Amino acid sequence: MSSALSDESKRMSIPDVMARKGGEPLVCLTAYTAPMAELLDTHCDILLVGDSVGMVLYGMDTTVGVDIDTMIRHGRAVVRASHSSLVVIDMPFGSYEESPQQAFRNAARIMAETGAQAIKLEGGREMAETIAFLTKRGIPVMAHVGLTPQSVNIIGGFRAQGREKKDWDKHRDDARAVAAAGAFATVLEAVAEPLAAQISEDVANITIGIGASAKCDGQIVVSEDMLGFQAWAPRFVRRYADIASVIGDAVRNYAEDVKSRSFPGPENTFSMKPKAKDEKKK
Ligand code: KIV
Repeated sequence: MSSALSDESKRMSIPDVMARKGGEPLVCLTAYTAPMAELLDTHCDILLVGDSVGMVLYGMDTTVGVDIDTMIRHGRAVVRASHSSLVVIDMPFGSYEESPQQAFRNAARIMAETGAQAIKLEGGREMAETIAFLTKRGIPVMAHVGLTPQSVNIIGGFRAQGREKKDWDKHRDDARAVAAAGAFATVLEAVAEPLAAQISEDVANITIGIGASAKCDGQIVVSEDMLGFQAWAPRFVRRYADIASVIGDAVRNYAEDVKSRSFPGPENTFSMKPKAKDEKKK
């Protein structure tokens, strides 16, 4: 009990996150697995187990097919392997939209079975009642407005939002509504810079941008995008590594070594145990 308490007390808390409003930007990345969480943990304030796991790890075209058991499995791994970041888990499509009660049941299950500190759900004004219902019952909520990938079939593709002033009211009202409902933070995805700046000034909660300019209170991207796992990444991602080349070179070298029988070498091979004395005498 005491060790569990001391471990959790080292983690970033919701009040710690909220205290960063207008201050040093929050560093956030996605993580889906234990090894990645371990690598990211010391550098990040928040690790998000995003439903982008479906596209990044499972090759899905959209996030719509991701289920709650998948989120829980990956959420557990990330919580186990991290010690200082606040861990947030995405509620997948279909697990919260029906009613505040349905959202509570599934959010409580995610929190209890993973040990994560918060959940994230997509939507603006239409989700305000649900966000209030969850936060009043002890479930911290990160909201997500602007481009909401779970609604890709309605919005017709992954497109930047708020690039025309006529659309600003909708996005501003959504951000205001989720903040007023109690969301401690709101992801602004693919939102034009002037609108993201205005929303960030306007709302009292934390704004976390993904393709929404440096005017937000924090930044998040998909880790695999910024590490260069694939040739393509969205325009709003800066590449910090070319992991695809690193892996490609390593695997080519491995294949050559296997074919030339230079791997495994003596250092990778087990020899027989030296004979026991009695056995030698015989
Ligand atoms: O699913 C996800 O990874 C996300 C973020 C990138 C914000 O929602």
